[in-house]
Amino acid sequence: MEQMLALEMIRVTEAAAIESARFMGRGQKDAADTAATEAMRRTMDEIDFAGRIVIGEGERDEAPMLYIGEKVGRTGAGRDDVPRVDIAVDPLEGTNLVAHGQAGAITVLAASEAGGLTNAPDTYLEKLCVGPIAAGSVDIRESPTENLGRIAEALKRRVTDITVVILERERHDDLIAEVREAGARIKLIGDGDLSAAIACAVSGTGIHAVMGLGGAPEGVITAAALRCLGGEIQARFRYRSDEERERGAKMGHGDESKVYRTEDLAPGENLVFAATGVTAGDLLHGVTFFGGGARTHSLVMAYQAKQVRFVDTVHMFDRDSPPRVRL
Ligand code: FBP
Repeated sequence: MEQMLALEMIRVTEAAAIESARFMGRGQKDAADTAATEAMRRTMDEIDFAGRIVIGEGERDEAPMLYIGEKVGRTGAGRDDVPRVDIAVDPLEGTNLVAHGQAGAITVLAASEAGGLTNAPDTYLEKLCVGPIAAGSVDIRESPTENLGRIAEALKRRVTDITVVILERERHDDLIAEVREAGARIKLIGDGDLSAAIACAVSGTGIHAVMGLGGAPEGVITAAALRCLGGEIQARFRYRSDEERERGAKMGHGDESKVYRTEDLAPGENLVFAATGVTAGDLLHGVTFFGGGARTHSLVMAYQAKQVRFVDTVHMFDRDSPPRVRL
């Protein structure tokens, strides 16, 4: 079931990537996000499964589509043979990146058996993400300097040979200063700490860790990806207001000192993760269009199957114009 679902889910992220990529550089971040969301919603309804959105575009009253609790998938009347699946989506991670034609935007989702993905309010998580080799050797309660030393030791390199991704935000000024002082290299990004976290678990990307505060929903999807890849995320909730704190507490996340580990954020045993590049990034190529079609590059993973697939797909929109499939 998990493997079949994985292959179906990739159709969902591919469709969202193609639709949102049409907005590349057009300065319309909301339109790009809406296009991705609509394409995800539409494609999910073509797949035989009983899905429930656990992380989506917001609460029911604030998001017209893919809101938390929404049912998705084609179940058919009276059918009880379709799998029941919880879904966490980020239809377009990097709306600004697409609007400005910049690198690193992806469409992404994670799926699991019911209860396998933690409900997280739309707030921040303080995150520390590393790949499989450094997994188990870091501790978010320690200083960034200490953790950089531990990552370097695990990877058998010097701290000066470590590259950390940090979102370029004022709230990270002290973190950036400390990482610079420790001697590590930094890649500052405008958006997209989810795709950066996946990249740090894939060797050859040149990224070794992600540090700092980013979206909590993205943190849960990151955890699903890192479970599949053997990497690690450690995180603590960081609320921006009392209202957020209250909402978080209602979901069981009231203790801001609690360290959430990968398995806490994505405890599922039948996890599936799919992402498609919208604009080219460290891990995935962006969507390219050609006469009568488009080409997408995706990553799809299934936890139980222990499989990581990079999928290169040529989509032919129009069979009447000759398709240009090439290597
Ligand atoms: P979008 O989904 O709006 O494109 O933003 C993505 C993102 O950059 C995430 O990667 C990150 O976790 C979060 O936003 C950071 O939030 P903020 O922009 O408030 O710092």
